[in-house]
Amino acid sequence: MDLLYRPRRLRTSDTLRKMVRETRVSKQSLIYPLFVIDGEGITEEISTMEGQFRYSVDRLSLIMDRLVSAGVEKLMLFGIPAQKDTCGSQAFDDEGIVQRAIRFIRKNYPNVYIITDVCMCEYTSHGHCGILCGENVDNDKTLEYLNKIAVSHALAGAHMVAPSDMMDGRIGSMREALDEAGFLNVPIMAYSAKYASAFYGPFREAAGSAPSFGDRKSYQMDYHNRKEALKETDLDVSEGADIIMVKPALSYLDIIREVADRHEVPVAAYSVSGEYAMIKAASKAGFIDEEKVICESAVSIFRAGADILITYFAIELAGFMEEGK
Ligand code: PBG
Ligand code: ZN
Repeated sequence: MDLLYRPRRLRTSDTLRKMVRETRVSKQSLIYPLFVIDGEGITEEISTMEGQFRYSVDRLSLIMDRLVSAGVEKLMLFGIPAQKDTCGSQAFDDEGIVQRAIRFIRKNYPNVYIITDVCMCEYTSHGHCGILCGENVDNDKTLEYLNKIAVSHALAGAHMVAPSDMMDGRIGSMREALDEAGFLNVPIMAYSAKYASAFYGPFREAAGSAPSFGDRKSYQMDYHNRKEALKETDLDVSEGADIIMVKPALSYLDIIREVADRHEVPVAAYSVSGEYAMIKAASKAGFIDEEKVICESAVSIFRAGADILITYFAIELAGFMEEGK
């Protein structure tokens, strides 16, 4: 057979396959989500996320040392406060759990880049992502609180803030608040296309942030929708978002691709707790090869167009990359 094209030719050796790879992943584009909890002497494994823990500030070195030696030096911080109330006041308290964790990390791990999740659900007694008016989350009232949280994180030393609440107009309003407080150079990573997803289940157990009534469908997006993601990302970019995010990742690769093609700002993807838990459970049962599935899933997210990946597998991935997997 005299075939002109033999695509298999470029697949004949590992060296050649690696040379012609289209997607290369670097550990510099990985962000590790980290749960910090009020109290002392706490390292609690999260029952729904084997291998992931909640740490009190005095125990943070355990995970920070592992991250730094793996070369993962970017964090997304989530706080679990001792006290919750209707307006989530611990979220913007200078002595709040996230604020204390930021100061500890800045002091002891000066090369680590700290991004904070800005939301209210871990801090409100009702578990919703904002201030309630009856059974509804009041959009405009919530903005004032989100701004206070973001400024308080920046004051404590956060390098970047990442609002995950899905209120309308929050990026513009937060940009203004940060600028007024003098934080012109604190970027905003907007959770722009954040879907109301069952894949957040394990996280809500980890953070104790499940809503006490109802669901988040009146603010997070309906997963049947695609154009709505374009609208949400358009709005966030026009309001000044520095980085936009698609969340979850694996069931939303189509959205990542479209958003990446449409915008000039960097795109982050959040491979969420349910994605982590599924891989963990299947590999524990012996049904899949954990390492290979972690690599294949992560690469698929970058291949779809993500520039940045937020993942609970950041440490493992950094190691696999080192080995050229
Ligand atoms: C808070 C928040 C959530 C996640 C990130 N920020 C939960 C939610 O919206 O209910 C999910 C992260 C994950 O599942 O890993 N708004
Ligand atoms: Zn929330």
